[in-house]
Amino acid sequence: MRMRIDIITVLPELLENPLHASILKRAQDKGLVEIHLHDLRDYSSDKRHRRVDDYPFGGQAGMVLQCEPIDRAIAVLCAERTYDEVIYTSPDGETFNQPIANQLSLCKNLLILCGHYKGIDYRIREHLITREISIGDYVLTGGELAAAVMADAIVRLIPGAIGDEQSALSDSFQDNLLAPPVYTRPSDYNGWQVPEILLSGHEANIRDWELQQSIERTKRLRPDLLS
Ligand code: ADE
Repeated sequence: MRMRIDIITVLPELLENPLHASILKRAQDKGLVEIHLHDLRDYSSDKRHRRVDDYPFGGQAGMVLQCEPIDRAIAVLCAERTYDEVIYTSPDGETFNQPIANQLSLCKNLLILCGHYKGIDYRIREHLITREISIGDYVLTGGELAAAVMADAIVRLIPGAIGDEQSALSDSFQDNLLAPPVYTRPSDYNGWQVPEILLSGHEANIRDWELQQSIERTKRLRPDLLS
């Protein structure tokens, strides 16, 4: 099953590069996922200026994305396929985390609408959006980077997206434990030594050491994950 992610944005150029490099590029090249960018301005009824925003009712500062182009863009896409979720990126959504990434990675079709300026006309959120997601308690200038973060976290979980399938399962957070430290050659770098146990060749002891390290690091750095 090939996954499909559609992203509606006023800044497609901000998303082009992150979506076409590294794992995200390879997953698309391998046919595991299709990611399509849609410029909201293409759906503007204002053919001359391609305007998609207007002043907010009530006189506050900033601009608000209008209902019409968003409604039209979502309608066109929803006429072509059924979306598992129509996601809006917003600092006031539920906070994105590994369980949400796991859940979304099982979807067939995802539609992500990137917020911008002061936000979007709230009626879109009331009537068309099925899920609102924030990537953390800070405010970005738009939802594009949030969409890129989510796409990255979701796509790398698709079987075959990363070389060694084990490695997605052993990520930090997958079992509520931070990952253990990793090292590579040389085993002695100017006197900085790799822990002896990793050079011992005792598979079972090494796994046990890694688990102890994971537990110790989680207790020290993220005790909230253990409770
Ligand atoms: N748009 C602006 N800030 C955001 C955030 N923290 N998460 C998701 N979308 C946003």
